[in-house]
Amino acid sequence: MKDRKVVCRCEDLTEEEIIHAIEEGYDDLESLKRYTGATTGPCQGKGCLMHILRILCQKTKKSPDEVGVTTQRQPVNPVYLYVLAEGEVEGE
Ligand code: FES
Repeated sequence: MKDRKVVCRCEDLTEEEIIHAIEEGYDDLESLKRYTGATTGPCQGKGCLMHILRILCQKTKKSPDEVGVTTQRQPVNPVYLYVLAEGEVEGE
């Protein structure tokens, strides 16, 4: 069995799938994200964004500054629903 290098655990994406998508022409971060679903799982890319960036930089021969990062949506940290319902924020 071939080694399976999972880079996005939330969306079950392997390095091979990311490279294949880049070779198909999804060679900027936003289109790669939309095409593969990478960084769109419950962790919002905390577990995979740096891996995706590394692969994208290597394949496109661009710097991390040229590739950029995706927009992170709120909440950046997990929040229990009861906290939102009660209007309380941890630490306040
Ligand atoms: S590991 Fe990729 S979105 Fe969570």
